[in-house]
Amino acid sequence: MSSSSRVILVTGAAGGIGGACVDHLLHEGLRVCAADLRPLDDGEAHEDALDQLLLTQVDVSNEASCKAAVDATLERFGRLDGLIHMAGVHCSEDWEHMTADNFNRILSINVCGTFLIARAAAQGMAKTGGGAIVLASSGSTNLSRQDGKGNSSPAFVASKAAIIGLVGALARSFAPLKIRVNAVSPGATDTAMSANFDEDTMRHLGERTLAGRIGSSTEIAKVASFLVSNAASYVDGQVVAVNGGETFAS
Ligand SMILES: NC(=O)c1ccc[n+]([C@@H]2O[C@H](COP(=O)([O-])OP(=O)(O)OC[C@H]3O[C@@H](n4cnc5c(N)ncnc54)[C@H](O)[C@@H]3O)[C@@H](O)[C@H]2O)c1
Repeated sequence: MSSSSRVILVTGAAGGIGGACVDHLLHEGLRVCAADLRPLDDGEAHEDALDQLLLTQVDVSNEASCKAAVDATLERFGRLDGLIHMAGVHCSEDWEHMTADNFNRILSINVCGTFLIARAAAQGMAKTGGGAIVLASSGSTNLSRQDGKGNSSPAFVASKAAIIGLVGALARSFAPLKIRVNAVSPGATDTAMSANFDEDTMRHLGERTLAGRIGSSTEIAKVASFLVSNAASYVDGQVVAVNGGETFAS
């Protein structure tokens, strides 16, 4: 099939990176189901691509809601070829103030939610011959940001480290269904998730990359879109850092 006939479900579509994924995929001519917990706008921003776009609400921590989003995509477009899963929550609570309830909430959305939406999408993709899944880890799993410079709490870091395990486990599990599973691991990226960082923190995060700046949503979206495409047909079970060379600069 031509790449433009492919159908991709994007979660976190009301957010920075998910929204940029929707924009990029539509621009490339693909068909997209844009999903988020928050209601999405009426598609006004994509007026010239409305025949390629389905907007839906999803709570990825709810199994029935994940299935409903996949079913809605199949009903509208007749197939599903990929999932880019960017929905997630950040958390800045330090170790002293973190409650068990809050820790579990982060894991429920970021980890169990990832499993639930990936499984629902895999079951949908299996109906039409397979596909690809892209998850979201985080550079915070490599670099401790517990110094207050970036404010990622142990719960967030643990949840994003779990995604690395899930990538391998799901790549193995879904291989018989002809579904590849990879993840992007963004460094600090200019979205609502990083909007609560102060100016000093943002400068610090930029300075510790080889690029000398934090990333843009579009830069992450282009790599996620590559991984979900057939151009990445031999990439499976990988976590791809998209961080301006942060690992080498610090
Ligand atoms: N922005 C960064 O600096 C950065 C760095 C590393 C990793 N990441 C990861 O990249 C992904 C995208 O980040 P972003 O910066 O675009 O975040 P964002 O906050 O802009 O968007 C996240 C979206 O997820 C949605 N969401 C939250 N809970 C949900 C749920 N239960 N069901 C469905 N949707 C839900 C939110 O409504 C929001 O629109 C996240 O997984 C994040 O952890 C981001």
